[in-house]
Amino acid sequence: MKSQTGLAIVDLDEEGVDRAFRSDVLTGLAQRQKAIPARWFYDERGSRLFEDITKLDEYYPTRAETEILRERGGEFAELIGPDRAVVEFGSGSSVKTPLLLEAIDPAAYVPLDISGDFLRQSAAALSEKFPRLPVFPVEADFMRKVALPDDVHHLRKLGFFPGSTIGNMVPRTAVDLLRSMRSTMGADEGELPLLLIGMDLVKDRKVLEAAYADGDGVTARFNLNLAHRINRELGGTIPVEKLEHVAIWNDDFARIEMHLKARESFDFEVAGKRFTMAAGDTIHTENSHKFTRRSSNTLLLAGGWTPLHRWTDGEGRFSLILAQATEHRDAP
Ligand code: AVI
Repeated sequence: MKSQTGLAIVDLDEEGVDRAFRSDVLTGLAQRQKAIPARWFYDERGSRLFEDITKLDEYYPTRAETEILRERGGEFAELIGPDRAVVEFGSGSSVKTPLLLEAIDPAAYVPLDISGDFLRQSAAALSEKFPRLPVFPVEADFMRKVALPDDVHHLRKLGFFPGSTIGNMVPRTAVDLLRSMRSTMGADEGELPLLLIGMDLVKDRKVLEAAYADGDGVTARFNLNLAHRINRELGGTIPVEKLEHVAIWNDDFARIEMHLKARESFDFEVAGKRFTMAAGDTIHTENSHKFTRRSSNTLLLAGGWTPLHRWTDGEGRFSLILAQATEHRDAP
């Protein structure tokens, strides 16, 4: 399982508590609109639940993107060409990454992930599948510029960021990431790198809301697991049974928002601090932005990438976009 944005370079205090987790939760719960960054979903149980989500009937993104990768291999090969270093932002999925590698016949594969465990596991599985492909895993936070291994410096680069994980970031953070990807792939030295990125599309709100509030309640368990995690790891007393999972389409910001909503009012503690929720108050736990052709182009351009080509699945639900680093210039 790919570590979505899960932290692995963990800084624990004397009691074994993850300092960054505690600080994000305490800061987030003290806000007027309570909010906790979505990356804290992905403890072991959360990662397993996310895997289950990707197999749900209602959750189309994984199937739609895989369909594109499976069916458009010939076009990827033509537009991207062989002998590149594929730099994957994240550990790589056991299904999607092999489809891309089979299609374009690269010279090297460089997965970047902050979680060394995920990285090593998935790199080993890939090496087994592609025994002749040099694999250079790099344990690093790809939200910042990453130094790539010397072995791939001479190769042309293709960045790969599937899954529409970019949609979990607010636009400002998404732009920062796109710019970091540019620097990581050496956009200002030699040939301009390419980027193949997945972006989920705006569609009927009923389809979107169902994808994030499935009938079996798997996404609800995924969301509520965050409250259980706070109770377990931060000595919390959140009455989880008084919270309910909510997924709503925010049309102004073109995103699905997930919240944990209080069914009735209650007080609770986390790490020795007291908090209150009134009936109807929520903790905002995730954004999942959806894109149009224009909004995805604008985001990519803002991050320093010029869109070259886009593919969508047969039902027009999801897009994979090929972009090239935009050359710097001062005039229009
Ligand atoms: C990881 N990410 C792209 C998923 C999404 O669709 O935004 C996370 C997710 N949250 C609930 N369901 C899936």
